[in-house]
Amino acid sequence: CVSAKRVTSDKSGSRILSESATTTSSATSTNDTSNNLSGAFKDTMHMRSSQASRSLLVRLANGTTIESLLQYCNSQGKVDNYFTYFQKAHYVVVEFSQADTIKQITSKAHSTESKTGKQRDGAQVESRFLSFSRPSKHKDTNVLKRKPDVVILNKDLSNLELLRSLASAPNVDAQIELLLQEQELRESEIRLRFLACSLMEEAFQSILPDATLHPFGSSINGFGRRSCDVDTYLDRGTAHGVIPLKQGRNKYKLGYDRQSANSERVATQSTLFTLAEFLEKHVPQCSSVNRILNARCPLVKFRHQATGLSCDLTGDNRIAIKSSEMLYIFGRLDPRVRPLVFMVRHWARLNGITNNNPGYWITNYPLTLLVIFFLQTRPEPVLPALNKIAMFEPSSEGMEEEEKDVDLVFTDEACIKVSRNKETPTELLQEFFHFCITFDFKKHALSIHLGSTYPVPNNGKIFPMYIENPLEPDLNSSKNVSGDLVDRLRRLSQEAVKTMERLDFYQADASRDALHSWGLGALLMGSVQGKGKVRSVAMEKKLGAMFRSLNRREFSTSCKRTCGVMHD
Ligand code: GTP
Ligand code: MG
Repeated sequence: CVSAKRVTSDKSGSRILSESATTTSSATSTNDTSNNLSGAFKDTMHMRSSQASRSLLVRLANGTTIESLLQYCNSQGKVDNYFTYFQKAHYVVVEFSQADTIKQITSKAHSTESKTGKQRDGAQVESRFLSFSRPSKHKDTNVLKRKPDVVILNKDLSNLELLRSLASAPNVDAQIELLLQEQELRESEIRLRFLACSLMEEAFQSILPDATLHPFGSSINGFGRRSCDVDTYLDRGTAHGVIPLKQGRNKYKLGYDRQSANSERVATQSTLFTLAEFLEKHVPQCSSVNRILNARCPLVKFRHQATGLSCDLTGDNRIAIKSSEMLYIFGRLDPRVRPLVFMVRHWARLNGITNNNPGYWITNYPLTLLVIFFLQTRPEPVLPALNKIAMFEPSSEGMEEEEKDVDLVFTDEACIKVSRNKETPTELLQEFFHFCITFDFKKHALSIHLGSTYPVPNNGKIFPMYIENPLEPDLNSSKNVSGDLVDRLRRLSQEAVKTMERLDFYQADASRDALHSWGLGALLMGSVQGKGKVRSVAMEKKLGAMFRSLNRREFSTSCKRTCGVMHD
């Protein structure tokens, strides 16, 4: 008998964990009633890491079924949960009650086949990524033969699919909420990100025994959309002062390196350099390894094929997990924060204000800070200033006195009051666009920490936009942003306000022909048409793909409505 509980997601995007779930909060769920949000964040991280460490990633070979795999797993130990997905092959993630069961299974797999598919001599990479196959003589006729469903994860809805879904909402506020539900990470997508991180950590431990790998960024801060990357940082643990060095063709050792001993940055660069090669040669399923070691924060980018995830590996970056915790907490302090941030991020992406590639664009992190600042500075604030809910204290991390850092410690529920602001999400969105039009970015630096502004620091460099990084107040998190981009943000905000002031903006119409004539449909589609002069190359490509995917008649109708011209 096959007994295991399946992790499922409902259509609305809220996650349902089967009845066996031992947990109360997911990495992004919004219905957490705990007042101690910092504690909730840490508990969630701990719970997710524990789930991942007790999970196997299994590829189903031809002729095998989920049922036969579960039957096998159940014969080895208690299975708590599982979910499946398709990524060029069918995969199953199986979570066991006990980590020991995994050891038992991997040791058996180890004796029959190479699990890595990569060179194994020298560097001993144990992996919880396995392939499930059965010798033909063991074919189990009792197990129901059913092809697994094709479940696609980590993929955003196309714009057309999103617009169709939004058109079904009864009003604009509901559309903003629905946009969040359509775009946010699903339960299984969160689990998969933690599992990818855990698999990588396990691989690194074969050459850095005490190392730990931590996820941060949008995978854990509550603002991740379904296709977001996995940002990770490596803590070298007790191997502080030593770095992994390559010794021979496939052998690695820990050692002192004179250059690295003098500079933490050089140590990080050397460590990442070695790990990049290790990933390429020894870690299963890692490909497209790209070393970006001269960046301000050196990193290695790679793809984890079996999960289909893009991953970033950085050196010790504890501060990033603090900023993730900060965003997680802001996202939970008021139910309007996440819908508004998702909406603004989506609008900005469609308009070429944000971009995944490095350049003069604003990235999602400072854009999120911008929205938070706006919410802090409403006449009746929606969010408190950071200094009302957190304090900088000397860190307990770091062995030596000079290594001690400051840590941002969040105060308990006493300081977290419910906002008296009663504006609707739609009103806030329109006010946000007004704010972008009227705010003097050249003059005022925005501080999330103070919840107010101060004059832009003048240290020989002119910043068209200055958004103080709350965790490192000396740094401008939007320092790459160009003056042109700020002008563009202002111009597009003006157009957005014009669209929102139209009388038919609030006239909900669920018919197919009205997809782009009201609400977010008008705002999102209207904003990407008729701006030939300001579109970037990337934007042109995106628009081309989007318009090709539109049904021709629908497109023609929408263009006539919004700009009166048929573009081709
Ligand atoms: P996505 O675009 O969905 O990946 O959002 P993200 O929040 O994960 O952004 P990204 O992958 O660019 O960065 C990951 C994390 O690094 C952010 O959440 C921040 O915690 C941190 N980060 C990003 N940009 C900056 C920056 O300019 N300065 C600092 N100090 N931290 C940053
Ligand atoms: Mg990211």
